[in-house]
Amino acid sequence: MIIAVDGPAASGKGTIARALARHYALPHLDTGLLYRAVGQALLAAGGDLDDEAAALAACAFDDALLADPALRSEAAGAAASKVSAHPLVRAALVQRQRDFANQPGGAVLDGRDIGTVIAPDADVKLFVKATPTVRARRRHTEMSRAGSTMSFDRILADIRERDRRDMMRATAPLRQADDALVLDTSFLDVNAAIHRAIDLVERKRAA
Ligand code: DC
Repeated sequence: MIIAVDGPAASGKGTIARALARHYALPHLDTGLLYRAVGQALLAAGGDLDDEAAALAACAFDDALLADPALRSEAAGAAASKVSAHPLVRAALVQRQRDFANQPGGAVLDGRDIGTVIAPDADVKLFVKATPTVRARRRHTEMSRAGSTMSFDRILADIRERDRRDMMRATAPLRQADDALVLDTSFLDVNAAIHRAIDLVERKRAA
């Protein structure tokens, strides 16, 4: 079984994808991490995020980088959003993601274009969303706990900017697949969102 989980930044898709992977004992790939690694490798090499050729070269990053906690930062997310708009970067990362999706036994992948481009034949596609305000509030709480002093307004502005970039790019933009099941987590806590996700997968499998 292949489960595709797509959605905007801070929608809860990562948490839901990990929970589904645990529930169904499937391997999980957070595809955002690949784009974050490209951004980080590019910046470490002194490159410019808008330089497509340099971003393509950064796709040959060392896999050890994927374990770097710095990839989880807001700055790494913003850099990832920028390099991910380059068609050559997306093309360089497609096969790795498809191979992961098509491994025997199945997999769970989360990202922006899993249901539309990476695994259009996925057995179950979830589109996880929440209002920008709710997503910014979650990020703000998370970041404040980690010691950040970034304001709520700044975080909300960053989220809107990232949504805009991820949805407006020409290649594989963030978009709900026609056959995706929508999961709005705006008014759900983590446990309720996970239960709802499992319920949607079960209904889809039974259908
Ligand atoms: O899911 P995330 O926040 O870690 O993703 C970081 C950025 O990477 C996101 O803003 C856009 C890009 N991305 C993408 O273009 N396609 C994916 N499948 C996953 C992430």
